[in-house]
Amino acid sequence: MSMRIIGTGSALPEKYVTNNDLAELVDTSDEWIRERTGIGGRHVSTGETVAELAALACGRALADAGRRADQVELLIVATCSPETGIPSVACQVQSSLGAVNAVAFDLNAACAGFLFALHTAWAYVQSGICRNALIVGAEVLSKLVDWTDRGTCILFGDGAGAVFAEQCDRGGILSFVQHSDGRKGEVLRCDSRALTNPYVRGVMQSPWVKMDGREVFSFAVRQVPTGITEALKQAHLKAEEVELFVLHQANFRIIEGIARRLGLDADRFPMNLDRVGNMSSASIPVLLDELNRAGRLKEGMKLVLSGFGAGLTWGACVLNWQREC
Ligand code: ACO
Repeated sequence: MSMRIIGTGSALPEKYVTNNDLAELVDTSDEWIRERTGIGGRHVSTGETVAELAALACGRALADAGRRADQVELLIVATCSPETGIPSVACQVQSSLGAVNAVAFDLNAACAGFLFALHTAWAYVQSGICRNALIVGAEVLSKLVDWTDRGTCILFGDGAGAVFAEQCDRGGILSFVQHSDGRKGEVLRCDSRALTNPYVRGVMQSPWVKMDGREVFSFAVRQVPTGITEALKQAHLKAEEVELFVLHQANFRIIEGIARRLGLDADRFPMNLDRVGNMSSASIPVLLDELNRAGRLKEGMKLVLSGFGAGLTWGACVLNWQREC
């Protein structure tokens, strides 16, 4: 038993912020941002919530798959920027979609969140707990960054991407690897609020994203190729047999570094970060949706998806793109 993706969808906030717009807020320039990150602009929420964007993306993924909301059996939202602690974003999405028969929950693995959610869904489907799943990566990180810190506020964009997947006899997802290293948690962190009770006075370290960019860079370039190689080995495939590597869109230098370490041309690593920035868990499913809608995903094509981020967390998945059973 395996699982195949049969529909994709995405949603982005209306407001678009260019690098030149940011240069009016902090001491930066379009040239610096493009040169160091490859990012040219990003969508930023002016009120759209994680749940609203996720629900829109889910609706589009269901329409693409030709399925109804009441057919969904599992709904996982990967996010690290929910506006609410409870209820979960997934339960809010379930309610607005009318996915009344789904089990819904959130999962936080930062920028690797979509990969971790897809892996979880695969495990549920493979074990027979459910027959299909709606998996979403959704973020409004603009609300968690310090807009006076030029080192981080230039990186992130808001948005959501979703896939609908269902069980199949063979093919679909071929292999999966996941890793975490909590010892390196400090290199990218965000304390969302002070935790206080009558006996403890909570002290908030920082309500904003704090990042050691160089550490993140070297972690990604070192660990991601290893994870991808591991997943390829499990799938009995060589990197040369994979048509497209759909990676978390952190920045183009990281992606080029990973391609180099794998001995591959960067043109097999599609990117959209120039237009949408780093959308954390939403990066991979939004890019997948763009590729799908542009007709670039052909039946039988081998793909690698790989996410990496805070935690630290990273994972890779090899799949056979097959919408036909
Ligand atoms: N505009 C202009 N100058 C800037 C900016 C900016 N936006 N940001 C930093 N600088 C300055 C710094 O102040 C510093 O100036 P100084 O030399 O006078 O002190 C100089 O540029 C160099 O700063 P560094 O932080 O050393 O710059 P670096 O070359 O490392 O680039 C970057 C920073 C782009 C963040 C890089 O470290 C990187 O790509 N890291 C990967 C991290 C990443 O992509 N994180 C995304 C989130 S995590 C994830 O998605 C997995």
